[in-house]
Amino acid sequence: MKIAFFNTKRYEKQPFENANREAGHQFRWIDLPLRAETADLAKGCQAVCVFVNDQVDAAALARLQENGVRLVATRSAGYNHIDLPAAHAAGITVVRVPAYSPYAVAEHTVALMLSLNRHVHRAYSRVRDGNFSLDGLLGFDMHGKTVGLIGLGKIGACTARILIGMGCRVLGYDPFSTVEGVTPVPLAQLLAESDIVSLHCPLTADTRHLIDAGAIAGMKRGAMLINTSRGALVDTLAVIEALKSGQLGWLGIDVYEEEGELFFSDLSETVIQDDVFTRLLTFPNVLVTGHQAFFTAEALGAIAAVTVRNISEFEQSGTCGNAVT
Ligand code: NAI
Repeated sequence: MKIAFFNTKRYEKQPFENANREAGHQFRWIDLPLRAETADLAKGCQAVCVFVNDQVDAAALARLQENGVRLVATRSAGYNHIDLPAAHAAGITVVRVPAYSPYAVAEHTVALMLSLNRHVHRAYSRVRDGNFSLDGLLGFDMHGKTVGLIGLGKIGACTARILIGMGCRVLGYDPFSTVEGVTPVPLAQLLAESDIVSLHCPLTADTRHLIDAGAIAGMKRGAMLINTSRGALVDTLAVIEALKSGQLGWLGIDVYEEEGELFFSDLSETVIQDDVFTRLLTFPNVLVTGHQAFFTAEALGAIAAVTVRNISEFEQSGTCGNAVT
């Protein structure tokens, strides 16, 4: 099959070429993101391969359909960047990678918690500057702290296991799942009792701005909020107000509501126009990473292998076990 591979990054080609050795698909590597305006670059391809910041909206899907595309293969677990009803209406199948390495995201989540708590991000620059003062670097023991996990799927469960191993008391809120060792509680109780709240549920119409001003007001004063799931789970303006007032003590994020214009690109020579994002970067108690929680060698290899398998399965049978309906 011919596949237009949008938003190609240098580090993706090798794992995909390795995974494709036996399948023999033809990849067209395209640096640009998929948008309605770039969809014609897929002309002559039967499939497109996309990532989380491609805009697979109704307009882009209509252009893809006109160009003969029958499959959208997203190299991600989340699929909130794809207009599913529009894809189905256009007769385009959408496939995804439901699980690749929950460990990668869970471990990055805990890395954010520990880096923030022990001020590793500040200590790094301080020591390189010859400043060995400990003022302002006081942390807390994770052991004995209460951590609330919102979403107890694959990543939430892995995160819980790491935290239980560190001696934390783990609370969980998930309407559909439970995890051994995690105490299930209502959302309001989780927010009220947790020293750290970490988000691991998908972004849906119901979960958009799940953490808004009201939710933050219900949290322990000075608690830590971690988001490695999807940016729009959090109302960023409300979070900024809470950081200013001290209601929120710490923020660690790998995802951001408006990350589409920022993440995955080198913008070091440009002036960032997003004033909300740049305000976040001014807080000493905020740590931002650019959607890298998934980014391990093991995860990349698994993403490539499953994506190539999805495409082959669709080519052979017209359907796929990993289709999103
Ligand atoms: P999963 O599908 O295994 O688990 C999601 C869990 O959320 C399920 O147990 C579900 O019952 C629960 N849930 C659904 N609605 C909820 C609600 N309103 N409140 C609380 N829980 C709710 O998904 P997985 O693999 O654990 O991934 C979770 C999220 O992590 C994905 O949706 C994705 O957005 C994000 N992610 C982020 C990555 C990164 O690099 N930062 C990489 C991979 C995933």
